[in-house]
Amino acid sequence: MRREGAGEVAVLIGTRPEAVKLMPVVRALEEAGAPPAVYVTGQHRELLAPILADLALVPAEDLGVMQPNQALGDLSARLLVAVQELLRRRRPGTLVVQGDTTSAAMGALAAFYEDVRVAHVEAGLRTGNRRNPFPEEMNRRLVACVADLHFAPTARARDNLLSENVPAATVHLVGNTVVDALFHARDRLLPGLAPDPVTEPLLRSPRALVLVTAHRRESFGPDLLAIAAGLKRLAEAFAGRVEIVYPVHLNPSVDPVMRAALAGVAGVHLTPPLPYLRFLQLLLRARLVITDSGGVQEEASALGIPFLCARRASERLEAVEAGVGEMVAPEADALFSAAAGLLGDEAAHARRARPTKAFGDGHAAERIARVLLGMRG
Ligand code: UD1
Ligand code: UDP
Repeated sequence: MRREGAGEVAVLIGTRPEAVKLMPVVRALEEAGAPPAVYVTGQHRELLAPILADLALVPAEDLGVMQPNQALGDLSARLLVAVQELLRRRRPGTLVVQGDTTSAAMGALAAFYEDVRVAHVEAGLRTGNRRNPFPEEMNRRLVACVADLHFAPTARARDNLLSENVPAATVHLVGNTVVDALFHARDRLLPGLAPDPVTEPLLRSPRALVLVTAHRRESFGPDLLAIAAGLKRLAEAFAGRVEIVYPVHLNPSVDPVMRAALAGVAGVHLTPPLPYLRFLQLLLRARLVITDSGGVQEEASALGIPFLCARRASERLEAVEAGVGEMVAPEADALFSAAAGLLGDEAAHARRARPTKAFGDGHAAERIARVLLGMRG
């Protein structure tokens, strides 16, 4: 039986980017006098813990589903059962999910089965290619099928939903909460942060800082190796002029592979995944970003830091259209040429180094909270 408009709002967080992007929603609901319950699925463990600490986010529940080297089917099954049990026990009125992870997809599906209203933050991003990004494109489409409310970050995302016949009254163009999180961290949290032994020498270096992340499933194997080869060439060609900093994702298909390819290369610094605020400190200081991460592209865009998106398809072309981002195939030559072009040419760099509001103005979460609270009557 549906409890229209009644009950608690709960927020479901599985992975690092969901924590970053849902924290502003939690904060906005708290500020509006309606603090939500935070449920952590634990799809990520080590990657999530420091972010929850940085953002002072205390979960009401932690389902702890992560297993080493988890297969998508196993993870999905564990999530579906665990979230269903949780929803039966806690009976929230609305479950807020974010993005395109397996936690978001299975959380939304479990909520649909339990007749809990589903609100989807960062809805409507599409590449149009079912296998790229994999499995995120299908995860995001699946959530759209079961969601009652769709919070689109950009006009293109809204239009994608409308073209799929999602009812217009349920689609809200709000911006991306990643920008809210970024500005809050930059302006309120970073100024009081004590120095850290891992990041401090890099922040003090006079050399140009190139910040790298790469972790996507569709890049496992040859594409990741090609990214590593491109970085090695860059480090050699710009020896003494760049610090390439790469916090390596813990996925067993990424960490050992990238460490084997890049450990010991002069000018390349491989670090463990960094706490959010430490990562942002480096990002703010970066001359160039090379990434396949959705969130990092959005952050670099908002800050006006030129970035290369090392992917074959993107659901975030707004950044490329704004000029700050460039799609580059994960191939060593292409990556090297694009990066060297920007590092070696002041004018080319300056043309790209323009902040854009393409992903939002930093007030997305307030808009989301207003809609969610309106829903609750
Ligand atoms: C997941 C998301 C991806 C998102 C990314 C953000 C899915 C299918 N993928 O990818 O969309 O961009 O998170 O980082 O939802 N691991 C740890 N500790 C951690 C996290 C992961 O050891 O804190 C290792 C484990 O061996 C785990 C493996 O990485 O089994 C894969 O984790 P998983 O969440 O399935 O995929 P990600 O590649 O992290
Ligand atoms: N991030 C972080 N530490 C790192 C790398 C990234 O805190 O070492 C943050 C980054 O600021 C961004 C988010 O993690 O907000 C992006 O997450 P990720 O790249 O794992 O996922 P995606 O955005 O690709 O889904």
